[in-house]
Order: sequence, then structure tokens, then C-alpha cells
Amino acid sequence: MTRHFLTLLDLSADELKQVIDDAIRLKAELRSGTLNDSFKNRVLGMIFEKSSTRTRVSFEAGMTQLGGSALFLSPRDTQLGRGEPVEDSARVLSRMVDMIMIRTFKHSVVKRFAEYSRVPVINALTDGYHPCQLLADVQTFVEHRGQPQGKAVAWIGDGNNMCHSYINAARQWDFELRVACPQGFEPDSALMEANRDRVKLCATPAEAVSGADWVATDVWASMGQEDEQAERLEHFKAFQVDHELMSHAAKDAIFMHCLPAHRGEEVSAELIEDDQVSVVWDEAENRLHSQKALMLFLANA
Ligand code: CP
Ligand code: NVA
Repeated sequence: MTRHFLTLLDLSADELKQVIDDAIRLKAELRSGTLNDSFKNRVLGMIFEKSSTRTRVSFEAGMTQLGGSALFLSPRDTQLGRGEPVEDSARVLSRMVDMIMIRTFKHSVVKRFAEYSRVPVINALTDGYHPCQLLADVQTFVEHRGQPQGKAVAWIGDGNNMCHSYINAARQWDFELRVACPQGFEPDSALMEANRDRVKLCATPAEAVSGADWVATDVWASMGQEDEQAERLEHFKAFQVDHELMSHAAKDAIFMHCLPAHRGEEVSAELIEDDQVSVVWDEAENRLHSQKALMLFLANA
């Protein structure tokens, strides 16, 4: 059966660990100049209904480094943008390419696409989840601090797609997640309930961060919420991650942000630039290595 990666729950905990190990190995191989043409003559289709820098470049560069190629497909230039049904696009594209990556709005779209696709489908961000980012985040934590199992992780800010993927990550890598969000911006309640053994809502950012080994945040208004930006600023202003907030965390705690970041909003300029605490550049780079490992896993599954 074709394996897809729509959320972190599509792989077992052992498979995810394998992907992270492979990502670390692929990174070392790339740095030492070892060539890998596992994807010779293979094509990745990349559907982007939202903007992207990291995701597009990491998938495209990753395919090229593995000897394959990637096609950038935007709704502006494809029939998807003119209303061709997702089911039809999935059936057609998956007869032509070897793997498909989609960034879109509704999570149900990637689910429908995967249902009709003959080849693996990767969720490259929906309004619901951003699982590829979590592969990079976990790889980064492993490289800097070792396995996340048993660690305390704090999510500060919006209960959004990234927060939902952190909740799934807590389950898959067996860590404790403390979430602090303004009232009305909490993560999905069913997802919280399903993971209440390891995920809890905290009343304040300081409570969530207290003793944490890993602190993460994200923008206050996600793609598609541009109209709410001004109103959200008001609700979120007490949720900035800065050195003062990090002073409540464990002494060697690290800070992550999937980027792009808004300095002076969800993170202070001083904190994101503080290399002692902030690992955001390694985190961004690891999108490349972890997605190569993911694609190799799905191709061989
Ligand atoms: N973090 C992330 O997914 O970045 P892009 O939107 O630039 O792809
Ligand atoms: N939550 C953000 C993540 C961007 C990578 C968004 O969906 O816009």
C-alpha cells in the first residue's frame, strides 16, 4: 500500500526515529561530498497554494541532490487553480510523477488528494498541520541536546498548525508539551483531549516555560489570516518569547521558530539572534536533510 505523510501519525514512532537518524547521516554525507543518486530519473511534483521559501527550496534542492528533479506547480498556472477537482488532479499527476508534495489551506484537501494518488503524498503545510517542520525541529533537538524523550517542551503563542504538529510530536517522541496561548487561540480541543497524558494547557507563558528544555513559537497570524493581523497583535502581546521569558526555562534550554519570524512580535530580535539559545538556522537547514530522509523512506516503504 502507498504510504503518505499527512501528519506525524502516519509513521510509527520507530519509523520516525529511523527518518531522523537517516537525516543526520545524509547531512554528514552531503558535507563530506558523498554522492547519492537514489532518486535518479525520479520526479517530485510540488503543489504550492501558499507562499514558501524554506519548503520549496529544501524539497527542490533535496531532489536534485538525490539525482532526481522537482516540478513547481502553482494554482496560478495549473488547472487546479481554475477549479479542476483535487481527485482528478491527484489521479493524473500521480501517473506522471513519483511523489507529490502539497502546501494548501484545508487539511481535508491533502487527505482527498492522497486518497486518489498512486504515489506517496507529503503534507508540506495545511491549516491543520506542518509535520515536515517537526522532522527538522526534532533533528535539531537531537543534534544539540540528544533524544527528546522525557524532555519538557513549551509551545508559546498560537494554537495553530505548528502547535498541532508539536502535539503529535509529543506523542511520537514521548515528551511533555506545555502550551500557552491567549484565550480563544488554543489548539484543537479534540487533539488536546486525545493527548492529555502528555500535553497540557498552561495559564501563562512563564508557567509553560518553567524548567523547559526546548521552547518554540511561531507567527501570531498564519498564512490566510492576514486580515486578522492587527486584532491578533492585541491578543498576543503578552506572549512574546524573549530573554526574560527564557530565564524561566532550564539553563541549557534552546529556542526554535519555524520561520519566517516577526521580530518584536512573537520573538524578540535579541533572542532570535542569540546563538547560545536560538537554533533557528540549524532548524531551517534541517528541513533539507530530514525531507530527503522522509522521501527516501516513503519511496522504499
Ligand atoms: N517554515 C516554513 O515552512 O517556511 P516556508 O514557509 O518558507 O516554507
Ligand atoms: N503557522 C505558519 C507557519 C509558516 C511556516 C503559517 O501557517 O503561516
